[in-house]
Amino acid sequence: MTQEELFKVLVAHCKEYGFIFPSSEIYDGLAAVYDYGQMGVELKNNIKQYWWNAMTRLNENIVGIDSCIFMHPRIWEASGHVSAFNDPLIDNKDSKKRYRADVLIEDYLAKIEEKMNKEVEKGRKKFGEAFNEEQFRATNPNVLREKARYDEVHNRYKKAEDANDLAEYKQIIVDCGIVCPISGTCNWTDVRQFNLMFQTSMGSTAEGASTIYLRPETAQGIFVNYLNVQKTGRMKIPFGIAQIGKAFRNEIVARQFIFRMREFEQMEMQFFIKPGTELEWFKKWKEQRMKWHVNIGMGAENYRFHDHEKLAHYANAATDIEFQFPFGFKELEGIHSRTNWDLGRHQQYSGRKIEYFDPEEGAAYTPYVVETSIGVDRMVLAVLSHSLKEEKLENGETRVVMSIPAPLAPVKAAVLPLVKKDGLPELAQKVMDALKYDFNCQYEEKDSIGKRYRRQDAIGTPFCITVDHQSLEDGCVTVRERDTMSQERVPITELRDLIDKRVNLNNLLRNL
Ligand code: GAP
Repeated sequence: MTQEELFKVLVAHCKEYGFIFPSSEIYDGLAAVYDYGQMGVELKNNIKQYWWNAMTRLNENIVGIDSCIFMHPRIWEASGHVSAFNDPLIDNKDSKKRYRADVLIEDYLAKIEEKMNKEVEKGRKKFGEAFNEEQFRATNPNVLREKARYDEVHNRYKKAEDANDLAEYKQIIVDCGIVCPISGTCNWTDVRQFNLMFQTSMGSTAEGASTIYLRPETAQGIFVNYLNVQKTGRMKIPFGIAQIGKAFRNEIVARQFIFRMREFEQMEMQFFIKPGTELEWFKKWKEQRMKWHVNIGMGAENYRFHDHEKLAHYANAATDIEFQFPFGFKELEGIHSRTNWDLGRHQQYSGRKIEYFDPEEGAAYTPYVVETSIGVDRMVLAVLSHSLKEEKLENGETRVVMSIPAPLAPVKAAVLPLVKKDGLPELAQKVMDALKYDFNCQYEEKDSIGKRYRRQDAIGTPFCITVDHQSLEDGCVTVRERDTMSQERVPITELRDLIDKRVNLNNLLRNL
């Protein structure tokens, strides 16, 4: 299966097993908006808990808040979102479809890269062991031709991006002969900027109503509460404020399932520090956040840093943690050294002094900030896309299994009476009652035990506990482990500890 096909299978699986549904599906859906089902919400909550506890419990100097989605509209002027949170858009006059001009160019560049890679793979097949990729890329005429084309377009694109030159974006699209995938024509409008914030109005009468925005990031809720938290929590620099919450962006190219949505959730932490120490803290948070990711157990090779060459005017360092999604390495989390730009702007726009008196320095300053910002939904996608596997079994059958890291799995244990009679359901219910306070468990008595195992594999349940006739006599049950499918007899009284060892989130936190 190609990665693209695999991705389609994942989307279908998420729907079939209650992880993720298209929003408003009975009305044919709402583009780039998704609902979490009974499994998805558990997975999402576990991810959030892992992040929240790693931030607020493991760091005595980080506290959490929960600020509102609606905020004073001036906040978005101060933050620069009203003037600069834009995407460059272009319309095809024939299909009437709208695209992001930068994405059209990036897709074009990606296609050239793909062509070069195909040439390299051909070479690898042809020359076998003797193949030297570096030499091949430096000498093969087809690769060199594509590379020259790539460099030319890439350079023009970067220059246009730096200069915010929308006319040049259009010219690149026309010169490269990029056509609309729907109409197949090159009949484009000019490129213009489009603000990504959703607007609504607040107030009961049309005259008295004011325009407000749905927040496009949770970070500003932290900045505007800096003084409140610092004072009431008697926080000393360095300290952090963490928040999990919804954010909204009117994404034009909203695709790749829950990777880019119009309503999504962020987990952000702003770390307030003394000016001049920001690069040290930036390095520390880079390491710390990568450790948090790798600790989940999805393979260190599936993550990488992408340091930004082009920095926003207020940042003096920025990197992305990228994950290997089915469509390639893509941003999962951003870490930014944002200087004192945000607090400085709120100071200017609100007229309130936003400073910290540093007793060690004997002076007051506006703190600098290092931010870590991760999308909850992208984490869900990372976990699901990494975990879904189709396995060939020794008996020739295949099984679909979601090998979700056990502490994040939606259901930790399924309790299954072998048959629906002879007192087995009653004993199974007692097992459920003993476990349900510690773990999210599922009770299932319908269908053969094999079918029930398959259903639990498909939602990623680490343990299946089968209650059989023998259990009535010896108080033991069969515990089947999801990944190895190994089975062992375990006294009911020992179940709690056995499951806890594998699924307790604290075990992950202890390794950080
Ligand atoms: N406060 C900084 C900030 O919002 P960002 O890079 O725009 O930075 C941070 O967003 C993270 O939020 C991204 O790394 C990504 O995981 C997530 N994110 C951003 N836009 C998203 C979208 N449309 N859908 C899903 N997740 C998104």
